[in-house]
Parts: sequence; C-alpha cells; structure tokens
Amino acid sequence: MTEPVGLARGLTNYGDPDFALYLRRSFARSMGYSGELLARPVIGIADSSSGFNNCHRHFPELIAAVERGVLAEGGLPLRFPTISLGEVFLNPTSLMFRNLMAMDTEEMIRAQPMDAVVVIGGCDKTLPAQIMAAVSADLPTVVIPVGPMVVGHHRGEVLGACTDCRRLWGKHRAGEIDKIEIEAVNSRLAPSVGTCMVMGTASTMACITEALGLSLPMSATIPAPHAERFRSAEASGRVAAAMAKSKGPKPSELLTKSAFRNAQVVLQAIGGSTNGLIHLTAIANRTAHRIDLEAFDKLGREVPVLIDLKPSGAHYMEHFHHAGGLPKLMAQLGGLIDLDAKTITGATLRDVVAAAEDVPGQDAIRSRNDPIKPEGAMAVLHGNLAPRGAVIKHSAASPKLLQHTGRAVVFESVEDMTIRVDDPALDVNADDVLVLRNAGPKGAPGMPEAGYLPIPMKLARAGVKDMVRISDARMSGTAFGTIVLHITPESAAGGPLALVKSGDMIRLDVAKRNIDLLVDEKELEKRRAALSPAVSPEWAKRGYAHLFNETILQADEGCDFDFMRAKGKG
Ligand code: FES
Repeated sequence: MTEPVGLARGLTNYGDPDFALYLRRSFARSMGYSGELLARPVIGIADSSSGFNNCHRHFPELIAAVERGVLAEGGLPLRFPTISLGEVFLNPTSLMFRNLMAMDTEEMIRAQPMDAVVVIGGCDKTLPAQIMAAVSADLPTVVIPVGPMVVGHHRGEVLGACTDCRRLWGKHRAGEIDKIEIEAVNSRLAPSVGTCMVMGTASTMACITEALGLSLPMSATIPAPHAERFRSAEASGRVAAAMAKSKGPKPSELLTKSAFRNAQVVLQAIGGSTNGLIHLTAIANRTAHRIDLEAFDKLGREVPVLIDLKPSGAHYMEHFHHAGGLPKLMAQLGGLIDLDAKTITGATLRDVVAAAEDVPGQDAIRSRNDPIKPEGAMAVLHGNLAPRGAVIKHSAASPKLLQHTGRAVVFESVEDMTIRVDDPALDVNADDVLVLRNAGPKGAPGMPEAGYLPIPMKLARAGVKDMVRISDARMSGTAFGTIVLHITPESAAGGPLALVKSGDMIRLDVAKRNIDLLVDEKELEKRRAALSPAVSPEWAKRGYAHLFNETILQADEGCDFDFMRAKGKG
C-alpha cells in the first residue's frame, strides 16, 4: 500500500477514514484553497514568532519567502504556531522551557498532516528545541536559522549583543561609564532583527545546524535583515517541497556518528557557547548516538579555534559571513571534518566545501597555521568537585587564571549572590574563587545563565576584570572570563559542590583538566552526612514545573527529560 500524501496523512479518528478525509478537505476548502492545491504534498512551517521574541520579529517576511519556495516546487505550505522562547523575556530562564517547546513542536509535527516540515528558529533555545522535535518526529526537515543581527555602533566603536552588553555594563559597575552613556549604549547594542551577533548560543546552534547538514549552506551566518536571508528562506522552501516528494532525507538519515563528530569539531573551532554542548548532547540523545564528554575534550586538544569572533576574538557574525561562512571554515578544518556527511539537499559536505568562497584579505576565518587559539573553545574538567564533569570555555578565559588555587567564597543561591556580591563588607579578594551553588537544572530551577558571577563591586572598582568563578549554572555564550560551569552532579542533586565552605581552598588546573576541592575525604564525608535530605520544592508541586523537576536530566546528559531519550547504540 502506498503511504498517504498531504492532507490524507494522519486522519482524525472518527472510525470512518473516507469521511474523515472528506470532512478535512471540506474545512480546508473553507480556508479558500483550491482542490488542485489541496492535492499537493503538504509542507508544514513551524511559526515561532511572538511579541515576546525580538529575535523573531521578521517572521512574516521569512515565512512568506518559504511559502514562495514551497509553492514554486509544487508543494502546499501550511504554517502552524508553536510556543516561542524569547531569551530575555522568560522567567526563571529559557532552558526551563526548551523541552516544552520541543514537545509542542514534535507533537504538532506528528499530529498534523504534513509530508515535510520547515522549522524556523534562532533565539537561543528555539533551534535546539526544534531540532530535538524534528529528530524525534523524523519527518524530512529543513531548519532555517533566523540569522544574526547586524552590528551596532557607539562613538566610533563597533558593538554587539551581548558580549558588549556585559563588557560595558561591567565598566558601568566599575564607575568607568556614567548613567547617561550606558543608557545611550542600551539602544545601540541590538540594532536590528535577528539573534545576538557574537558567538553566543544562537550563533553556535545555527553553525551546528549547518554542520549537521540540516540547513542550507551559509544559512547560519547570513545577517537577518539582508535580502540574501530571504532568498535562502525561499530556497529552503523549495528544498523542503522536494524532500516531501522524495520522502527524504529524514533527520535519522543525516544525523550519523560522523555528523555528530563534525558538529563537535565545529563547536570547538568556532569558539562556541558552552550551552551548545548541552543542546548537542540533548539532540544526540534523541538518536541512537551519544556525545562522549571525554571524546569531546580530546577533540578540543586537536581542533584550534579558527573563527575570530567575540567573545573569544574580535569580530561579529556578519564578518564571519562575508569571509565565507561555515563552508569556508569547514574548508579550513580540512581533514578534521568528515566531508562525506550528507546534507538536506542530497549534496555532501565535500560539495559544500568545494563551493566555498575564497575572500582575499579576510581575517575572520583563520587557517590552521594561524589560529586564534591553538586548542578548541572548551575543555571538560573532572575532579572531586565534578565527578561527572564540568565545562570551561578556556578560549574566552584569562590565560593567567587557567592554573589557579584560591580561597572559596560561597554563595548559596542566585538570590544570595545577588544580595551579597556587592556588599562592601563581603570578605573577598581578587585571588579568591567565587562559588555559586543551587543553580543547576533542579536547583534554581532551569540552570540559569548565572555562572557569569559579577566581579564584586569593590574589586571591580579596584580594576579587577576577571576571577575564577565556579558553579552548577550555565553561562551565556556571549560571556567571557575564567568560569567553570555545569558542575555535575549539581549541588541540589547531592553533588559535591554542596559541601564547599567559604575559606576552603579550590584548585583549577585546565591543562590537566582538573577542578578539586582541597579538603580531605574524611571531612567531606562528615559534611555529606550533615546535608539535609532533598525535599520537593514548592515551585515543583504542580503542572509543567512538576514534570520538569521529576524528570530533568543533568547537564552531562543534555538536560532533556529522562523519558524523551531514544535508545542508544550499545
Ligand atoms: Fe535572542 Fe540573544 S536574545 S539570541
């Protein structure tokens, strides 16, 4: 029997399939479609626009471009809404809702009659959520990142969200920039539609998507307002319609072991966000493949950072784009990438790389002989403080702090830190190690991006720009500093971070990949025995928060819900 196509797919269950199709066509006609169009393969378009999502502001034009492409290729485009996650509009933090968006998107792809789907996203957690959904639904899928913003300008300086938001806010805290100037900067940091234009999580995930072969070449970097972005969306619509007709390739055909390895190489080479590692792990866990943190760390020793972008370097996404984008980066990575990996168009990465533009004089994409950093962006640490691992983006850290031993100054929670960090009476020196706990997936909840602990005001005013900071939280990919994140297991789940006391000594040794609490095991045992047993917090008593608290996995497993993972190989 041939598989039903278009509106004949997945009929509503009335116990009479012929009637169900008859009824569906009748109601579809009520929307003004002709019989000819209703007989075409259907391409669903996931619309995650929202008044609470500045990064997705250009969706109407983007979707219109996709629709043009689908129609031109003989498909019927039908858009459907999903929830949207505007990074800075969500409380307590957007990661709390990534899995909700993934479930919403997956179920709507499954429940509605479509032969292929185009998911359009960009703002931090949206692309990971949509890809997790697409992988689990396993329908032919084209991903369209919304594209990065163009840069802003202030007094002759080029600015970008949100590395410069943090840098200039730090200057304001240190008293170097007054209220009037910081307010003027405020309206210049994010001057257009699109996602943050440094190598934050949004840019990282767009690059990973392209490296996985799930989006069209150059789609990660084309600036959001450019006409090229809309031509790319139109071309994506065409590809989706062609995929609907040929019934593939599906995500399960593209996301091979090699594809995941390629994505990890790219993550290291772009100076990517630490959040990218969590999301890639969650995506892999929806397939038979897994991300091995040890192997990722090992790759980091072989793969140099080649992209000169903030926060690891100097440029912004539009410069990366004009220098040749991801195809050129993959060309520079050469043998580190498996070029036989396939993409949505049926072409291999070899074809993509062969078409990469050579831009004379560009300096945003370096060669392997002249890298930004000789090693990759991230290192995975272990030690008695992080039995299941922790992550540091050492490409954006202060080299002199990468081997450091200091006295712990402990904050019990994000709230405690907010109250005490600027207290002039706080006992803290520049050589201390700031420790934040109860900020993990369960603890905060949702693992907020609080790992970028502010430098205490009195030290900032004395000119201190960086300190070793450690936590079970995340950090925005746009942030920088000597910051150890994702300590696993988190303190709220009984991890050893819960045992640290102010005044203890902590040793960080990134070259050896160690993070240790220098307290003897007997004393730690005593402290462990004195910990109060975990109780279900008030916020987790009902609804989605209850589901989240009961089933959320730790950072090393991608923070998906435990019941959403696919069976792994072996
Ligand atoms: Fe949407 Fe930064 S606020 S990507």
